[in-house]
Amino acid sequence: MSDSDVPAVRIVDLKEYLGRQVTLQGWVYNRRSSKKHQFVEFRDGSGQVQCIVSKEDVPPEVWDASSLLKQESSLRVTGQTVADDRSPGGVELHVTGMQILHIADDYPISHKEHGIEFLMENRHLWLRSQRQWAIMRIRNRILFSIHEFFQHHGFLQMDAPIFTPNAAEGTTTLFETDYFDESAYLTQSGQLYGEAMAMAHGRIYTFGPTFRAEKSQTRRHLTEFWMVEPEMAFVDLEENMVWAQRLLQWVVRSVLDHHRKELEIIQRDISKLENIPDQSFKRLHYDSAVDLLKGPQTDELLDRMTTQREREQLDLHEEENALKEEIGSAKKWKRTSIEQRIREINERLDQIEEDFRNIPVWRESAHTFEWGEDFGGSDETLLTMQFDTPLIVHHYPAAVKAFYMKRDPEREELALAMDLLAPEGYGEIVGGSEREENLKRLQERIREHGLPEDRFEWYLDLRRYGSVPHSGFGLGIERTVAWICGLPHVRETIPFPRMPGRLTP
Ligand code: 4AD
Repeated sequence: MSDSDVPAVRIVDLKEYLGRQVTLQGWVYNRRSSKKHQFVEFRDGSGQVQCIVSKEDVPPEVWDASSLLKQESSLRVTGQTVADDRSPGGVELHVTGMQILHIADDYPISHKEHGIEFLMENRHLWLRSQRQWAIMRIRNRILFSIHEFFQHHGFLQMDAPIFTPNAAEGTTTLFETDYFDESAYLTQSGQLYGEAMAMAHGRIYTFGPTFRAEKSQTRRHLTEFWMVEPEMAFVDLEENMVWAQRLLQWVVRSVLDHHRKELEIIQRDISKLENIPDQSFKRLHYDSAVDLLKGPQTDELLDRMTTQREREQLDLHEEENALKEEIGSAKKWKRTSIEQRIREINERLDQIEEDFRNIPVWRESAHTFEWGEDFGGSDETLLTMQFDTPLIVHHYPAAVKAFYMKRDPEREELALAMDLLAPEGYGEIVGGSEREENLKRLQERIREHGLPEDRFEWYLDLRRYGSVPHSGFGLGIERTVAWICGLPHVRETIPFPRMPGRLTP
């Protein structure tokens, strides 16, 4: 039933074929029918388009075939492209022929609501839904633009090993494996190797999977995540912070330039991103961050949050009631969109309830915070909510930071460290520092941290042979995707997330 003379094209390119016959290859996303028409929402991985089958215009066998199409059935469809301003891509396809490749079994993921556990179990299929499709495209852009940024600025990508003999970021989160009767650990960070490479090439970045045995089930933690880690010779903490800012500005600009459509699909409020590329990020010394957290501004913020949420809750309940009244008399197609909106309202109401439970806990945590502690997730949330750009906190107490960080020569108790916290409550997405370049001091730190010195001999060599000031940072990809996409949890930011209790699919 398909015509071999017509070109097979991808949906993303359809606009170049207006008024012509084309063949598309893909899957049925959704189908509605009336007596005389089948409306097939069709996806091919590059986009979606509406295909219209009109009973009067197609041979009976095509009409019959189209009425068999269940969600996710695969097919080749031929037809005429017609400009249509109302459809999302500005084009629709008037079908003339169709070749069914496979009629799908009843698809487990309908367009109705599903619980998150069910969706996670079916992640291999969930990836096909439009929202997940949009998120993965934005993730792809983030990865691409990071490479673009570093390559543009003369950094060399170099890969660090995944099996490592020692910890890089604290011994409590190591995954141990049996490496031919020897212990090996899955890498927590490529940094130590990055430092060796930076001494060979000046500016490098590693980009790979990293592993942390984090048992805590939070919205920010995965056990396997991707991290990009630049390392730069002759760079101090100040310049390090500038590089982190420039990287994020580049990435956000690139996402905004290329993915407006995807941001719209996931309903991201892009006004929150638009100021990122052109504004300097706010910076706070750790001392000032503690003052801010414990000060009246935080209480005022929480009070404002409570009032806003209460108002929003009332408005949402009102909207929900109105929709419930409307739904009884609505046409079928309209009903679907009303149901969708009611689901969104309920999701938001659940989030608001969660905020109401959290606010007193956050307030308590902020009030009882003591100088010298590391910020917890809620503390970071409260700090970042006070600014509309990312926030860089620097000069943390050395006691809560890694062994390799250089100390502030004027205040030994502080490390030349920085964390970059994403706005809107997202919190830390970058951690970095200037590195200790003095052999003796580094040896002391290794001992103080109870680390096996013999396994760090190669690392110490970097301080024996032409040691230089150097710095670097690590940007967590999944947390960055969560922030840029405005997602409540990192589990949707990677194709197959690994978290405590989640190893399949
Ligand atoms: O702050 P971290 O632990 O820093 C390092 O690993 C340094 N060696 C980086 C460097 O200086 N080269 O981790 C860096 C980032 C965090 O800011 C966060 O974005 C991400 O890695 N990250 C995680 N992301 C998801 N799940 C986890 N369990 C993560 N742990 C860290």
